[in-house]
Amino acid sequence: MNRRVVVLHGPNLNALGTREPGVYGSTTLAQTDAAIVALAEQLRLQVEISQHQSEGEIIERIHAAGAAGSAIIINPGAYTHYSYAIRDALAAVAVPKVEVHLSNIYAREAFRRRSVMSPVVDGTVAGFGAESYLLALRAVAAMFDEIKR
Ligand code: DQA
Repeated sequence: MNRRVVVLHGPNLNALGTREPGVYGSTTLAQTDAAIVALAEQLRLQVEISQHQSEGEIIERIHAAGAAGSAIIINPGAYTHYSYAIRDALAAVAVPKVEVHLSNIYAREAFRRRSVMSPVVDGTVAGFGAESYLLALRAVAAMFDEIKR
């Protein structure tokens, strides 16, 4: 199996660093992506990162990752809580999948405490700021190693 990983940032995550820093921290998306790339190198993962404001683009990326056999790390942003279309796209692809959130969505407003993605991914990392993505990357590497064994 290849060790490719597609990292998908959902809507509004381009504004990291300035967007509600009390909730999401002061690390920018570019800094987050640089940390992802550096760790991916260490873990011998080939990473491809993109940010999307719209649901359709995210769904197309999920289909493409599934077709290529790439693992998926996804922070669907607010879509987390209501996009059955993204959930169905994730359910349709048989690749390692990790859901990521910067904030601990279970400690926030009621509407954020439900993820419609969680039942169709391998696992979720939430609450560690930009570090959540790095933990997800380690989880994907472990899943690839497990598949090989
Ligand atoms: C988020 C949590 C969502 O509720 C929110 O809409 C986001 C970011 C997070 O990373 O903590 O845009 O997914």
